[in-house]
Amino acid sequence: MLRRVRVLSVVGARPQFVKLAPVAAAAAGRVEHLIAHTGQHYDANMSDAFFADLGIPAPDVNLGVGSGSHGAQTAAMLEGLEKVVLETRPDWVLVYGDTNSTLAGTLAAVKLHVPVAHLEAGLRSFNRRMPEEQNRVLTDHAADLLLAPTETAVGHLGREGLAERTVLVGDVMTDVLLRVRESVAGAPLPVPGIEPGGYHVATVHRPDNTDEPGRLRAIVAGLAAVDGPVLLLAHPRLRSLAERHGIALDTGSIRVCDPLGYPELVNAVAHSRGVITDSGGLQKEAFLLRVPCTTLRPETEWVETVDLGWNVLVDEGFDRLAAIVARPAPQATEATPYGTGAAAAAVIDALESARVG
Ligand code: UD1
Repeated sequence: MLRRVRVLSVVGARPQFVKLAPVAAAAAGRVEHLIAHTGQHYDANMSDAFFADLGIPAPDVNLGVGSGSHGAQTAAMLEGLEKVVLETRPDWVLVYGDTNSTLAGTLAAVKLHVPVAHLEAGLRSFNRRMPEEQNRVLTDHAADLLLAPTETAVGHLGREGLAERTVLVGDVMTDVLLRVRESVAGAPLPVPGIEPGGYHVATVHRPDNTDEPGRLRAIVAGLAAVDGPVLLLAHPRLRSLAERHGIALDTGSIRVCDPLGYPELVNAVAHSRGVITDSGGLQKEAFLLRVPCTTLRPETEWVETVDLGWNVLVDEGFDRLAAIVARPAPQATEATPYGTGAAAAAVIDALESARVG
């Protein structure tokens, strides 16, 4: 009898825990699944809460790398992950998305000739200033199996000469979102004093938005002028940079909250009037929950949300934000560009059938 495929998932940052949840569930009983947490995110509400809320098995190893400059952080992960890969000798190292943890896991494995599978392969912003764009391009070109979430991603990979390694599996965030949406139906709103349909949910954490004081000040002023409460779920990076630049977040319509756990986030978005964000995942979650999204970036990897009319990009003129988020509701759509919630099973199928050696 064939022994089970051994898969080592490498995760480290909040969106990766969300993607890991459905993969870990689909892996159970089918493959031997190990989890390495780099420790890139370490606050309880940025890490542990996701494992607990989403029923993810505890990591087999946590490197506890923590924060640092890109070079220092990635190097510490690389050194730690090399040891983990040598000790565990997996058939696949499975890396997720586009963070520094993704790139470190990829580099550690390929140098040891251990096959790498990249979940969420083929996304492109074509904005080379973004560390995530560097991480995803480098990872896609080093990896052996490219697990693409959308037809758009498959197209990008084909144009880069990577079609033979590509498999369209759908989007695992859709799997987890659909499951969690059902589990929170009827739950009270996670923040007191807001009315269903009467508030916006906002997040801002990209370096291009937080690091330059003038731009951050303009974004905060734009959010403060929006009609009705704006729940600003403040990433630690936003809090520390606003403080450093002397920008008060708690002004006008803004109500500053700590980042929410995943079920609370889904519940808050589902009942909101709209989402204002620079997060990738949140743009898609808003679309799947059919909530209009306004994205504070010049471009998006999730172009389907824009093409279908549910997402508008705003990169300047933040004084017009209040008017932009008050635009008429988008046209209803039944489109499923992100799949129907069966992507994680397709990921495990691909890992089993593409086993190398
Ligand atoms: C990382 C990812 C980004 C992803 C985001 C999700 C990279 C290059 N970026 O960005 O793609 O969208 O995660 O949240 O990998 N901090 C804490 N506690 C934590 C984690 C971070 O206080 O648990 C603070 C630290 O001051 C740290 C800063 O946030 O320096 C940035 O954290 P880091 O992991 O470097 O990048 P993110 O901005 O979270």
